[in-house]
Amino acid sequence: MFYYFHAQKGEMKHQEGTGAASERLTTGDFWDSCYEGRAWAPFDDRNWRNLVSIQLVRLLKTLEIDGLKVCEVGGGDGEVLAYLAKWYPSTDFSVIDFSPVGCDLAQRRARNEGVQLNVYQADIFTPPSELIEKFDLVLSLGVVEHFTDLASVLAAKTRLLKSGGKVFSLIPNFSSPIYAYLCKRWSKTVYEDHVPHDMQSFLAGHNRAGLTPLRHGYLGAIEFGMLSMAMAAPEPKSWVDRQTYLFLTRLSKAIHFFEYNTIDFPPTKLLSPFMYVISSSRHEPALRPGRTPHTSE
Ligand SMILES: C[S@@+](CC[C@H](N)C(=O)[O-])C[C@H]1O[C@@H](n2cnc3c(N)ncnc32)[C@H](O)[C@@H]1O
Repeated sequence: MFYYFHAQKGEMKHQEGTGAASERLTTGDFWDSCYEGRAWAPFDDRNWRNLVSIQLVRLLKTLEIDGLKVCEVGGGDGEVLAYLAKWYPSTDFSVIDFSPVGCDLAQRRARNEGVQLNVYQADIFTPPSELIEKFDLVLSLGVVEHFTDLASVLAAKTRLLKSGGKVFSLIPNFSSPIYAYLCKRWSKTVYEDHVPHDMQSFLAGHNRAGLTPLRHGYLGAIEFGMLSMAMAAPEPKSWVDRQTYLFLTRLSKAIHFFEYNTIDFPPTKLLSPFMYVISSSRHEPALRPGRTPHTSE
């Protein structure tokens, strides 16, 4: 899954507040170190092990992006956009990320997978001027929760949006007491590098940024692999912690295998690994009805 980085090198570094923007809870060096060890095989939507990612791309496909201009901020190695670019050859896809290693991976991935991705190495608070108000959809997958001021990072995304465009934001579900407890137990540093939003604070941040939420919900029924960063972080873990993680990730995978071959279980606040909000830069009655069988409030 796109979120599952392994913190092999170094520790997350906290950075002082950056004034007008927002306090950033992670640094570029940290993300570079994540990408340095990352495999970049094409995303496989026929592998049951990728079920939550498959559910994510199904959700993104309901946004009807054919022929539009789409940008992923903090798009890292471009895994999702490279996949979508194969489905939507007439859509214009761009990635903005401040990690040079992530951007290099995105470019290599695009070449390798034979798709066109425009990759911009830039800070989302100071994007290239030619990208302002250019996109129909601006998405982020596991990015906005790393800033203490959610509204300011969402406003930065909104600046890239054409009038009437849509913003999609996905974050880990640390409103689940189970994921929050285990993450804190296994790595306080990883936990503190995220703002643990619940749906209410996530929606409120969108409203403060001048966005109108159109649809929101949780994604995936269960995924303890979501905690891989905490497990890989340098803090010492006991044998019991490691066995617990192993058991829970195997349990998630067994459930994914069952779901993939039968029917998806409903997402819940308690066990879903992610939550999302789809919003618009101006008021619209609703998205065109789309099938969203894997998501719920
Ligand atoms: C959790 S990763 C998500 C990567 C990607 N969305 C995925 O799912 O594979 C967060 C990404 O946001 C990027 N990022 C964080 N702060 C940023 C900023 N201020 N400007 C641009 N990119 C940033 C990091 O470099 C990293 O690639």
